[in-house]
Parts: sequence; C-alpha cells; structure tokens
Amino acid sequence: MQETVAFIRTRYAGAPRIGIVLGSGLGNLSNEIEVEAEIPYKEIPHFPVSTVEGHSGKLIFGKLVGKQVVVLSGRFHYYEGYSAAQVVYPIRVMKFLGVRTLLLSNAAGGMNPAFRVGDLMLITDHISLFIVNPLLGRNEEALGPRFPDMSEPYDRTLIEKAKGIAAAMKIRLHQGVYAGVTGPTFETRAEYKLLHHAGGDAVGMSTVQEVIAARHAGLAVFAMSVITDLGIRDEDNIITHQEVLQAASHAEPKLTAIFRELIAGLE
Ligand code: HPA
Repeated sequence: MQETVAFIRTRYAGAPRIGIVLGSGLGNLSNEIEVEAEIPYKEIPHFPVSTVEGHSGKLIFGKLVGKQVVVLSGRFHYYEGYSAAQVVYPIRVMKFLGVRTLLLSNAAGGMNPAFRVGDLMLITDHISLFIVNPLLGRNEEALGPRFPDMSEPYDRTLIEKAKGIAAAMKIRLHQGVYAGVTGPTFETRAEYKLLHHAGGDAVGMSTVQEVIAARHAGLAVFAMSVITDLGIRDEDNIITHQEVLQAASHAEPKLTAIFRELIAGLE
C-alpha cells in the first residue's frame, strides 16, 4: 500500500480530503470534475485491475464545486471475483492519500413498502452479516483497530445536511437500512422477505465492505441508494440488470444534485 500511495504521489501532488465512489448508472457527477489528473488502475502498482474487457477503471483527481476530490471511476464488486481485501483496497489507498470523508452511491432493490422505483434512500445503517467482512484475517494496526465500533457507520451530521438539502430542493428522500448481499443473483421472493423482516429497507451488492473498511480507517461516511426495483411485489416480479440501469440513470440527476450540494458544504 505504501508503494501504491508513493506511485500515485509521483503522478499527482494534491491532497484531496473527499473521496467519491459512484454506483451503476450514477456516474454523471464525475463528468463535472475539473480534472487535474487521471490514473488508470492498470498503471498503479498493486491496484486491483478490472478483468472485464473494455471496462477500464481509473482514479480521477480534480475539483468539484470548488473542492479537491478523488473519484474511484470503476468500483470493484465482490461478485466479480475479487477478494474482500481487493474490493476495499482503493478505500484504504484514499485514506493514505489524505481523504477524510467518503461519499458513496449505489443502485439498490427496495423492500420497504413505501418505496417506489426511482426514489432515493439515505443510508442510515447497514446489515453486513450476509457478505464477507473485509476485516477478516490478521489486523493491520496501521489501518485501524482489531474490533472497530459499528454503532454509527454513517455520519449523523452529513445525514442531517443531506436531508436539509433534499427538503430545500423538494426531492423525495427516504432513509433506511441497506442490507448487503454478495449477488450476483437478484434475490428470490423469499430472500427479499427475509431481508425485510431482518430490518432491511433496501438491498444491494456493493457499499457495505467499502464502508466497513472506511470506518475501520476512521473516515466519515455518507451513502445514498437509488431504488431501482422493488423486491416485494405480488405480480410477476422479474428483475433485470437493464431495468436497474435505466431506473438509476433516470433518478441520477436528483442524487447528483444532493451530492453536489453536500460536497460544496464540506470543509
Ligand atoms: N438486489 C440486489 N442488488 C440490487 C438490486 C436488488 O434488487 N437492485 C439493484 N441492486
């Protein structure tokens, strides 16, 4: 990790305090960055590399609404075959680059009956018991403590700020619990019901491992879901990746507006 960070510093001398990871179909915010440096993952020593052809990820450094940011353009999902440690590697690198606040977005399936496709959900808490914990194995004290507290993974101040922003913009915004799963299968009817009974309002295949690593490393975390499909419905309920991407890109402007305002207000 020291070699990774040292290499990145040879390519970019700035010290962003804000890290951003955008979900499927939710990447438009990165087009608004005044780019100062772009580093393809494949050039970065020890960085996980996307195995999917034509799906090359990169780190983007620059200014967004006047703030210095680093964006992970191309996130790593556990279902792609990366280890949990690989999934969270970029989060830890961000920490060592000086990031203090991590903002994440994702597409998620709705289970709370009040949710509609295209709604936004502020993540106030998560359920990580169905995924592989990225902290399993020997603990590296330089990264964080052996038994990190998880009583409040999502920063309360940022949650309150986002609520205020959404209210001022008249954007319908729910809050709730994100249940993490590995995927890549969408859930069965019984699984959606189980996750809802277990306390989940939305379910998705990303974010939770990244949040655990970020909290382990002491970063402040904010995350928001776009509800792209409804898991619990009486009628025929076939969910496709295409439907998820469509709903995400449809709701994306609302999410981007909230992120933009939130970032503008960060130190
Ligand atoms: N389940 C899991 N992950 C998802 C879903 C879902 O219904 N929608 C988008 N990501």
